[in-house]
Amino acid sequence: MRKIKKIAVMTSGGDAPGMNAAIRSVVRACAYYRTECIGIYRGYQGMIEGDMIPLTARSVNNIVHKGGTILKSARSKDFRTEEGRKKAYENLQENNIDALVVIGGDGSFTGGVVFNNEYDFPIIGIPGTIDNDIFGTTHTLGYDTALNTAVDAIDKIRDTASSHNRLFFVEVMGRDAGFIALNAGVGAGAEEILIPEEDLGLDRLLESLKKSRRAGKSSSIVVVSEGDKTGKNVFELADYVEENLEDYEVRVSVLGHMQRGGTPSCFDRVLASRMGVKAVELLIDGKTNLMVGLNNNEIETIDLEKAIKGQNEINRELLRVSDIMTT
Ligand code: F6P
Repeated sequence: MRKIKKIAVMTSGGDAPGMNAAIRSVVRACAYYRTECIGIYRGYQGMIEGDMIPLTARSVNNIVHKGGTILKSARSKDFRTEEGRKKAYENLQENNIDALVVIGGDGSFTGGVVFNNEYDFPIIGIPGTIDNDIFGTTHTLGYDTALNTAVDAIDKIRDTASSHNRLFFVEVMGRDAGFIALNAGVGAGAEEILIPEEDLGLDRLLESLKKSRRAGKSSSIVVVSEGDKTGKNVFELADYVEENLEDYEVRVSVLGHMQRGGTPSCFDRVLASRMGVKAVELLIDGKTNLMVGLNNNEIETIDLEKAIKGQNEINRELLRVSDIMTT
């Protein structure tokens, strides 16, 4: 077993609240185990460019509560090439780095697995994405914070929707997954929730909105996941509904990147702290190609490849609860 003397940490892909808390945790765990730590800026791109900074326990003071990532993040096209990965490997060698912690989503983990196959380089993944679309963990870093941000925004939209008796379509993030939409929708009391995992269809949507009018509701919120395919996009969907339900005045609000920013929730900070420690301990124990995950409130591990290939199932019970709540 090769001795791990120096661990690199980086954030990759879309940023998520709690990434700083995870960096802090990796750095402090390294310090605790007397292992050197180095931060790589801008994910794989920084690895290719040799953009790195030594990190000590004191380098990560006062970041546990900060959104974004002090190490910056990027989606690297160059790392998809053999040439790019070779350059990255050479930089790791040059800096005497023995192992890597990647905080990111499945694109970042896929890069990690390819890299490990080519260079046998020890890698542990920490799931960080607001989308919560990673198999092997009930929660990814940033998801809880993003949910609270979305609920807070929808609450505000509800105030104005109600004052004007309007129907609002609120688009939330989630490129391919409806976790934010479903949970924020239930939490904020949405009339309908449109997610990619379930095709409600335009007719049923119209029917349901008519029903809510008949039931005496004067304003409504429909939460639409970015990845939903019911309409071509949220604006066309809103136009379609306005054309077909004349007594509705419709507005659209796209929450967008605000969901990726802001102070991480306590849940995300605690999760990040636990995951960072576990990632360092795994590497020191000679483990590789694993992702750290949370299941039944226990920190567990899963093969990185399984995490990439598997799909987190949407909670069907929540869909049922949402249906009942719109009565
Ligand atoms: O994967 C996280 C995410 O925020 C998705 O919800 C969204 O589709 C995407 O990233 C946006 O990416 P970018 O910041 O590159 O526009």
